[in-house]
Amino acid sequence: MGLQMLSDKDRIFTNLYGFESWNLEAARKRGVWDRTAELMQKGQPWVIEETKNSGLRGRGGAGFPTGMKWSFMPKPSDKPHYLVVNADESEPGTCKDRDILRYDPHRLLEGILFGCFAINAHASYIYIRGEFYNEASNMQKAIDEAYVAGLLGKNAAGSGWDCDVYLHRGAGAYICGEETALMESLEGKKGQPRNKPPFPAGAGLYSCPTTINNVETIAAVPEILRRGAAWFAGFGRPKNAGTKLYCISGHVNQPCNVEEVMSIPLKELIEKHAGGVRGGWDNLLAVIPGGSSTPVLPKDICDTVLMDFDALREVKSGLGTAGVIVMDKSTDIIYAIARLSHFYMHESCGQCTPCREGTGWLWRVMQRMVRGNASVEEIDTLMDVTKEIEGHTICALGDAAAWPVQGLIRHFKPQMIERIEQYRKEAKRAA
Ligand SMILES: Cc1cc2nc3c(=O)[nH]c(=O)nc-3n(C[C@H](O)[C@H](O)[C@H](O)COP(=O)(O)O)c2cc1C
Repeated sequence: MGLQMLSDKDRIFTNLYGFESWNLEAARKRGVWDRTAELMQKGQPWVIEETKNSGLRGRGGAGFPTGMKWSFMPKPSDKPHYLVVNADESEPGTCKDRDILRYDPHRLLEGILFGCFAINAHASYIYIRGEFYNEASNMQKAIDEAYVAGLLGKNAAGSGWDCDVYLHRGAGAYICGEETALMESLEGKKGQPRNKPPFPAGAGLYSCPTTINNVETIAAVPEILRRGAAWFAGFGRPKNAGTKLYCISGHVNQPCNVEEVMSIPLKELIEKHAGGVRGGWDNLLAVIPGGSSTPVLPKDICDTVLMDFDALREVKSGLGTAGVIVMDKSTDIIYAIARLSHFYMHESCGQCTPCREGTGWLWRVMQRMVRGNASVEEIDTLMDVTKEIEGHTICALGDAAAWPVQGLIRHFKPQMIERIEQYRKEAKRAA
């Protein structure tokens, strides 16, 4: 399958920049809520199969196949099933769900109806980041409009399916984006991740079968069902299908959110949509390709790497949330990564010892690495500590803290050594 560039007619998120209203009337003109009941009449297995065949993988970071996740939900029983929509969006560098929530909330609501139908849920909770005040306001107004129009509630959209949607505002914790911490928080408890198993499909929200999906994942579903699995699967490389929202920030001429094909070359993405790197491509130092937790990539890899799950994993990074953070040669890369270490230390919930202690340890050593006040051997010790955290915690926040430091050491060790030697020289001179 050859790569295909995205034309305007192939965009799902046609109001990404809020040029049109978010409201129901405008959303309908964009094709949202079109043929919803007719498509649902094709049945639950069809919705799941079509989603599976489209190749849609979760847009929240881990890239788990969405149709497959839905198929893990048990058969209906006396317990209610829930669809939880993860709108916590707190990964630094990521601001895509926000634009769906504030500019295209009906697209998300229609996706929720399809998702609820697929997993036998009659209720959905949207857990929205606390700082997203205006987004929550638009989202709630859209929910209210949808109820008045008969698109939610009993016999939603005339489909015969009952579907209620509740909006819940978080209180500003990154950890509450982790799916099990999110459910704890939704239940009114402290947002700390749960041990798995049980997995949410077996015992999730209120111990009932639950599926959790990201905003972008759910909002992409209606258009996939309307246009067909093959249409979506036709973009990107095999197993990396579809169109994708990318958030491009940092040292580019025009930072932006943009919908593009999956597997687009990183260089092309930046040059075509973000006005290129400040000072030109040769002024590029490094890129964090998928939100703050994904390991940084130096320019030589950025020259050719493709933006998809598998290509970025092959170069020991990840697509994550597709939050592309561009850094030019003016960047103090050691300081930039140290700042992320501070973030992860601050956001660790403290439940698991390797994360609670390890993230503080990383931050303290990284602070010294920024000045160069360390020994060269400590770079290897730093790497060892990341390995003690990675994979040894209940949730992936530990991994998220470890990976940026690993990326730094993998690609910028000579710069770290140079900083240490410089510090030594200056200390000697001062003595
Ligand atoms: C510390 C941490 C924070 C996370 N934050 C978010 C978030 O803000 N939004 C999100 O959709 N997923 C987040 N995730 C991933 C979720 O746990 C989960 O994988 C995702 O919501 C599943 O949706 P998807 O299958 O549609 O991608 C986070 C994971 C971790 C470990």
